[in-house]
Amino acid sequence: MSALPETAVPRWRDGLEQDYAPLVETLERLIPCMEVPLHLPWIDAINALKKERGAVIMAHSYQSPEIFHGVADITGDSLALAQAAADCDSDLIVLCGVHFMAESAKILAPHKTVLLPDLEAGCSLASSITAADVRALRAAHPGVPVVSYANTSAEVKAESDACCTSANAVQVVEAIAEETGSDRVIFLPDRYLGSWVATQTEVELVLWNGSCEVHETFTAQQVRHTRERFDTRVVAHPECPPEVLAEADFVGSTSAMGRWLAKERPGRVAMITECSMADNLRGQFPEIEFIKPCNLCPHMKRITLPNIHACLRDMRHEIHIAPDVIERARAALDRMLAVGRRERV
Ligand code: 13P
Ligand code: SF4
Repeated sequence: MSALPETAVPRWRDGLEQDYAPLVETLERLIPCMEVPLHLPWIDAINALKKERGAVIMAHSYQSPEIFHGVADITGDSLALAQAAADCDSDLIVLCGVHFMAESAKILAPHKTVLLPDLEAGCSLASSITAADVRALRAAHPGVPVVSYANTSAEVKAESDACCTSANAVQVVEAIAEETGSDRVIFLPDRYLGSWVATQTEVELVLWNGSCEVHETFTAQQVRHTRERFDTRVVAHPECPPEVLAEADFVGSTSAMGRWLAKERPGRVAMITECSMADNLRGQFPEIEFIKPCNLCPHMKRITLPNIHACLRDMRHEIHIAPDVIERARAALDRMLAVGRRERV
């Protein structure tokens, strides 16, 4: 095992740029080109360690392009990563995303080792609610089923009837309402996603007061200004406040935004969501001009090439969850996976 300190940069080697020629071309379009040679030795060292360990690296769409394109085997929204964790045949998963995503992987693949490069990679939504809060909500609304956004801790999932992501929130709410015969559902913790879901269904929602610290900072005035100044189409994530969503041409989850672009092929688009999402989609749609909002998620950005390297080298930081929590949280996640991805775009 290497004795390199975490900050020691792996050495440049001859042929590196040639070996990674297609990646270099992609990255030079997405990030400042001077950064590319700085990333390549890390990418090369991570790919070597990944092979040695038989690991699979999963990266959320909000990860920086050098991670998303450079080292990830599986990329996507939180639903895609959860599905992949359940399905992949590697016993070692490195989750490049935030803590709740690594927990979902562990819950769905409890016999696998799941590593998160930085345990401090949290989420303002996940930290807005505890398992005790869910029990209190249930006591206040007896018999009303609970749907939790995947952006919650394992303990909160364990108290829930079903989980959802933004890709299937409406469908999960309707499925649970039908299954339980209830015309009300407790939906937590994102009040903005919840109020958007409420506009898409007849089911009445009881909401919690959580919010995403990244999406809640967008304003309607910013969106109006962007549209007028750049004559652009606008797509927004449903974690944004309602007045922002009202200004958008399309509201949809991480994956639905990509499908909307594929269908509509706008000449220019402003993505009202996390900034790296636009970068990564720019790689996929080179003919579309992206107006970048540049709201970065500070938690997602805790994941870096050096800490992914250290994570694989030292087998850190492993996700552990109590078996009884896994069992109960799994039932809620399985219900979400059974509904799957039935978005309207
Ligand atoms: P997705 O469920 O669309 O991947 O989003 C996760 C997230 O954290 C959005 O801010
Ligand atoms: Fe959480 Fe918002 Fe970051 Fe997504 S973007 S991980 S919801 S803080």
